[in-house]
Amino acid sequence: MPQRRLFVTTALPYANGQFHIGHIMEYIQADVWVRTQRLLGHEVHFVGADDAHGAPIMIAAEKAGKTPQQFVADIAAGRQAYLDGFHIRFDNWHSTDAPENHQLAQEIYRALKAAGLIETRTIEQFYDPVKGMFLPDRYIKGQCPRCGAPDQYGDACEACGAVYTPTELRQPYSALSGATPELRQSEHYFFKLSHPRCVQFLQEWTSTPGRLQPEVVNKIREWFTQDDNGRVGLGDWDISRDAPYFGIEIPDAPGKYFYVWLDAPIGYLASLKNHFDKGQAANHWHAPSRTAQSYAEFIADPAVEQIHFIGKDITYFHTLFWPAMLHFSGRKTPTHVFVHGFITVSGEKMSKSRGTGIDPLRFLELGLNPEWLRYYLAAKLNPRVEDVDFNPEDFVARVNSDLIGKYVNIASRAAGFITKRFEGRLGAISPDGEALLDGLQMALPAVAELWAEREYGKAVREIMALADRVNAYVDQNKPWELAKDPALAGRLHDVCTTCIEAFRVLTAMLKPVLPATAERVEAFLRCAPLDFVNAAQPLGEGHAIAPYEHLMQRVDPKRLEALFEPPAAAPAPAAATTALPGGEAIAPTITIDDFARVDLRVARIVDCQRVEGSTKLLRLTLDVGEGRPRTVFSGIAAAYRPEDLVGKLTVLVANLAPRKMKFGVSEGMVLAASHADDQAHPGLFVLAPDAGAQPGMRIR
Ligand code: MSP
Ligand code: ZN
Repeated sequence: MPQRRLFVTTALPYANGQFHIGHIMEYIQADVWVRTQRLLGHEVHFVGADDAHGAPIMIAAEKAGKTPQQFVADIAAGRQAYLDGFHIRFDNWHSTDAPENHQLAQEIYRALKAAGLIETRTIEQFYDPVKGMFLPDRYIKGQCPRCGAPDQYGDACEACGAVYTPTELRQPYSALSGATPELRQSEHYFFKLSHPRCVQFLQEWTSTPGRLQPEVVNKIREWFTQDDNGRVGLGDWDISRDAPYFGIEIPDAPGKYFYVWLDAPIGYLASLKNHFDKGQAANHWHAPSRTAQSYAEFIADPAVEQIHFIGKDITYFHTLFWPAMLHFSGRKTPTHVFVHGFITVSGEKMSKSRGTGIDPLRFLELGLNPEWLRYYLAAKLNPRVEDVDFNPEDFVARVNSDLIGKYVNIASRAAGFITKRFEGRLGAISPDGEALLDGLQMALPAVAELWAEREYGKAVREIMALADRVNAYVDQNKPWELAKDPALAGRLHDVCTTCIEAFRVLTAMLKPVLPATAERVEAFLRCAPLDFVNAAQPLGEGHAIAPYEHLMQRVDPKRLEALFEPPAAAPAPAAATTALPGGEAIAPTITIDDFARVDLRVARIVDCQRVEGSTKLLRLTLDVGEGRPRTVFSGIAAAYRPEDLVGKLTVLVANLAPRKMKFGVSEGMVLAASHADDQAHPGLFVLAPDAGAQPGMRIR
């Protein structure tokens, strides 16, 4: 087969958080494929990058008190530990905010404009007058127009499942400032996906046989008749956002930026270009005979295959917008888009906010072997868009019975005899051994083909079936019995030699998944780096191997359990004398969003009365700048005289559900400090803002 030239990517992760197990699964799937291609001798350039732009990152950076550039740089600094940890070997990692991407995005846009596919339209959108910005749908909240549930997002109701547009929300408010958003007009730039030229191109492109998975093609057929918003046919794509926005400026359009999804996939090209410009592209572990000289030369070569690994949620962007952008800017389009499903953990969807799922760094910190995860995921992956479940018991069983019980076992049963009895030298292979090895060697291309077809589960099953055959051979010949009879030394030598040769072929087959183990096996066998071609060549009689050292541990289920335990909480006080602030431990961590749900306001105490029949309560009348007073009952009678409070400013929890009490309805709560043990540490202290604060001001 002639050498293939491959340009491979994974989706570019948003730079607003660390990698989660879903990212790692995607990278492992792609990395196994890339390693396979390299083992077949092909030229591969495998690149990734951080997806740096967009409103959520801009807002997260602001909350963190950083510039967006600093914010994404800090996230980027954490990437390598994950990639190295799981043996994910990208050739380059870049950022969509890099100069290459600014330049490429503007070039592509100009070409699309010249092709007559960009048009402007004035649209109406919610605007946050406090923040001074247009609000993305997910930052508008309000009451569900159908069921009335409060605090629903601008696109759908979590309570009743209704789907709507933000303008349909009742009492909408900005999730950023709490302000009531205003409808404002703005000119937006659109990519005319609905243009007949576009539609025709995409219909042809998506139906090219072998390009996309059949289930993906079916999904796209639905989009051709009905787009994401239920409109008939492909809708035009809004590619602009108004300042302030963290993104790339649209040429000749002051104050307008590309929507993050326009420049994100262009980041694939930017990272590739950066890789070539750094002069790294020629450095390959499997020095290909024909290595690209420059980005321009490489990307223009019609023989280059461009392949994107992505998750199912971003199919629309990769199979419609992206090929159209490339084609109509005069570029080559992707050869394949390989779509995978989502990973679930014990059947549950992963949720970043609920903190379920598996933290990849924790996995490594616990000393769990990254190749266990690679193997386990490979065993479960296939070329279809199916979800993959991580099941802990299944994980333990799979790794221990397959990797240790079937694969590693072969070497550990044979190597000792070669070292102790035959000075580490391999012997001849008897006819029955030849038959076994022939079978393995003949299976090599088929296994390589399964990896290349992304039939990872099948590849693993095939390799384990072959390992079963080798183990059956060991059981028939019982080297430990042969070893007892000096007259059978010759037989012992060739049985163990057969096992070592078989183990070498199995190692080559597993190498895309177990690169680190394969490297250790190569050292143990004292052989050249294994690949799918040289693995068919036996080491041969007289070849000396190194003493065997254990290659892989079994999974200890207890250690795996630790992965699912919440991270160690602050240690419990050893004795009652341990100092706890204010007499109680600090409450569990919340996010800034959790905090933002509590609406604290400055309030003026305009009146204060004792409550007849209560020794604890005072009735406060508060001005919160609402144009009407609020009544709040507060348990501070033991600490304050009513007349001393009148006229003072304090802090009110303004969005606490009203509470019906014996003496009336309390419309909120006033904040006060106290020790947990008020016997030993008496005192109650009402909070007050600094002078100058006005009733109604929010505390944040
Ligand atoms: N930034 C965009 C992609 C831009 S590509 C030009 C994005 N980022 S992401 O961080 O949200 O997702 C990155 C990849 O991880 C996507 O392919 C996505 O499908 C994948 N996954 C996110 N959650 C996943 C699982 N639970 N399981 C498997 N993959 C998942 O989308
Ligand atoms: Zn609802």
